[in-house]
This record gives sequence, structure tokens and C-alpha cells, in this order.
Amino acid sequence: MPDSTIILDRGRTVGPVRSRTFGSFVEHLGRCVYDGIYEPGHPTANEDGFRLDVVELVKELGSTTIRYPGGNFVSGFRWEDSVGPREQRPVRRDLAWHSLETNQVGLDEFSRWLKLTGSELMLAVNLGTRGIQAALDLLEYANHPAGTALSDQRIANGTTEPHDIRMWCLGNEMDGPWQTGYMTADDYGKLAARTAAAMKMADKDLELVVCGSSGSGMPTFGEWERTVLEHSYEHVDYVSAHAYYQERGGDLGSFLASSVDMQYFIDTVVATADHVGYKLKSKKKVNISFDEWNIWYLDEHQASDEVNDEWRYAPRQLEDVYSVADAVVLGNLLITLLKNSDRVTSASLAQLVNVIAPIMTEPGGGVWRQTTFFPFSVTSRLAKGVVLRPVIDSPKYETAVHGEADLVDSVATYDDESASGAVFLVNRDQTESRTVTIDVSQFAASRIDEAVTLADDDVYAKNTIDNQTRVGLVSNDSASIVDGQLTVVLPPVSWTAIAFA
Ligand code: AHR
Repeated sequence: MPDSTIILDRGRTVGPVRSRTFGSFVEHLGRCVYDGIYEPGHPTANEDGFRLDVVELVKELGSTTIRYPGGNFVSGFRWEDSVGPREQRPVRRDLAWHSLETNQVGLDEFSRWLKLTGSELMLAVNLGTRGIQAALDLLEYANHPAGTALSDQRIANGTTEPHDIRMWCLGNEMDGPWQTGYMTADDYGKLAARTAAAMKMADKDLELVVCGSSGSGMPTFGEWERTVLEHSYEHVDYVSAHAYYQERGGDLGSFLASSVDMQYFIDTVVATADHVGYKLKSKKKVNISFDEWNIWYLDEHQASDEVNDEWRYAPRQLEDVYSVADAVVLGNLLITLLKNSDRVTSASLAQLVNVIAPIMTEPGGGVWRQTTFFPFSVTSRLAKGVVLRPVIDSPKYETAVHGEADLVDSVATYDDESASGAVFLVNRDQTESRTVTIDVSQFAASRIDEAVTLADDDVYAKNTIDNQTRVGLVSNDSASIVDGQLTVVLPPVSWTAIAFA
């Protein structure tokens, strides 16, 4: 007997599967750029110094849009330092991460790297220590075709074609006291509105992201969004959301239900944005760019001496090593982002390489997949067409942090063109397997093309430098379809993807 049932209904669609849901984030932080994607002298490095073995794994991960260059870093960044002849670029102090920035990688090099990975650039401007003029200059340098001082400078630097960057972030986490130049909602809302209006005078089709809250636990959460949007609503297209989760105090049950908080976050921001829109009698909707989300053992980071008094180049910072449980939560967060594809129209897993990342590298050495790599890469590969809102009937459990939560969570996608679909599921039960029956009768589904599960007897098993393939996907042979009913057994604390046709 199944203990959970899921009904998939063609008529209950959320919206299209958006390629930008599978975005990621590269910040000048720790070893993300330097000794991460960039390591001249590495046996696989190309003429720009980019490691091609890392490029291959980024392609396999399936990152679409990549947010760059920060993060907290951007709030003290002078973009002009990082273009032009490399030998003339200044070394600066990065106050955000207390490290040395050599500026050997800048916009032009990073854009060439993105061509290798096939991803789109989402660029952040500095509204911490800088303002409208610097943002406009960067826009001119990046996007103007030719014949102006800054576009000609780009051409002289070797980039003939404009970068044509569509998505721009108006600063980063300006609500956080840790941010260089952080502001009140009122001050930031006014600055963001004026910067956005000026940028759209240069190009009315830009897609601009105004900073929302750095987390749903911020004391100003909700009120920040309202104030900022009241100033900037007509000039911006997205409001950002950032959320990091971790297991605290051995409470795995609450951690496994982290998606409940993400859903609350999304609902609150959508309600606030729509409230402001109605108040302003606006015809447009402002959507969410969930441009930082992940598992991050932030408490441990804050308690550590990773950031010390020394000014170091490419220090090892935020190098969290992820477990099976972390990967299950990450897969579940991605399920939640897909379930909200109507309003969360862009998202960035923070981050991509070495820094709270699905991909790890060693200088002069290899590259490997963390546990969290797997749910992301499989979802980005299989999710196509439209997102279906499943009707889930699952047993529940009580969590200390999020109240009652379903033991089984899921989302599905269906692509009419290829007549194929995919279901993504998690089992949050810590001890029991769950048998789930999914009604796929409306799709005349008769074949399973792929069924993979991430699980382990040890939910804290990890891939480490010494054992890089300890955890991986296994084929889930329990999956079958009979008379339009797809049945699968989900092991305890597991993530599963099933492709049907
Ligand atoms: O992703 C790590 C950091 O988290 C980013 O720099 C910042 O925006 C957030 O606080």
C-alpha cells in the first residue's frame, strides 16, 4: 500500500520551467575565482588562466545565469581596476572578506569564461561605496557598441562586441550591517530608484534587481521590501531574496523541512510586492530573483577564525563540505523554487566553486562533485516545459522550527513537445522508506527513462578530497508504471528524480 499519493493534473500548471531558475553565483571571495575557476599554470588552464576541468563540471551542473562579482565583495569594488592590461591592474584590499584582490579576473575575462560554460551574465553594481555614475560608466563600458569613451576603451582592451548584459543587481544585501555602506530602507530605496531610472535611460530593456532582505530572519524583513519598493517599483523588475539554511543543534527534522521557510519567504515577498503595486495602481508585477540560496554552516563560519587579521590572496573561506542530508535539503529547496516559477523567475545557487559550492578544486590538483552537485545537475537537465502543481497527500511530522511538515515533498514538470515529464521528490522521514504512487494517467505515461536517488545509510556521508566519490546517485529500480500509476519507494532522508515518457 502506498503511504503517499501524488496527483499530476495537466490543468494545474504554475508556469513555464524557467532556465534562469538554474542560475549560480561567482563572487570574488576565498577560492571561488582565484585558485578556483582561475588558476594559470594548472595543467588544464587555457590562455586566460581558466581551468577547463572546472568548466566541464560547471557545464554538467547546468548553471544558466551566473551572478557576478558579488556578494558583499561588490560593495567595495571599483570595476575600473579589473579591466585593461593585467600587469597594470592594482592590488586592493577587499574589506568584505578581508583579503587581497589582484584584479587579474575582471568583466572581460569573466565574460570569456561564460562563453566556455554557455551561461548568461547577471552583473551587480556597487551601491555600497559608489553610486549612479559608476553604475552608468560600467553599463557604458559593458553594453554600448562603440564610439564612446568607455565602449572604445573596452574595444581597445580586446572585447570588440558589447557584452549585452540584460540582468543587473542594484547593489547587494544593503539591509545588512555587515555590508560596506549599508543603508536604511528609505535611503537605499531612493538610491536604487534613481540608479535604476538612470540605467533605463541608457537602455529601457534592462532587467533590474532591487535588493530585498538578506534573510527572512532580518528584523526589517517585510518592511524593508515595502519601503524599498515604494520608492523603486516602477523602475525595477525584480526584488531579490537570499536564504541560507543549516542544521542546528542536531535538529535534523527541522533542517529537512527548510523549504517551509523558503515558501514563507516567497509568499511574504510576493504579498508585499503586490501590495505596493496595488497601492501605486501599477500595471506591472515585480517578480523575485532568489539570487542567493543554499546550505551554509554560517554559525560555524562566524565562530571561526577563517577571516583573521592577515590580508591574504585566495584564502580558504566558506569551504563547507556537504553531506547527504544537505543535498536532500538542497534538492528540496530547488523543488520549492520550481513550485513558485510563476513569481520566482530567476534564482542563483550561492555559490559555484569552492565557496559553499557544489564543485571543489585543489590548486594543481583535481576537481570533484560535492553531494549537493547531484540534485542540482539532474533537476536542471530534466526539468522542461511547464511546472505542474502536484496534489500531495503525505503523512506529516512535527518540527521544532517550522511546525507541521509533509514527510514527502515533490514537484513535477511536463514538456508537450517531447511528450516527457519529470517528477522530483524528497523523503524527509529519518527512519522509514516511503512508498509513493503518482497518478500520471493524464499523460498516457508508460515508460520510465531514468530514476535516480541520492541516499545513504549514513546521512552525514560526504565527498571529501580524500574520498571524492563516496556519495553519488544510484538507480532507483523500485520505480515502475502500471495503468497510469507510477510507484516508487523513497529511502529515508533521500532525494529522487524520475523521468517518464
Ligand atoms: O554568499 C556568501 C555571502 O552571503 C555573500 O557575499 C553575501 O551577499 C551573503 O551574505
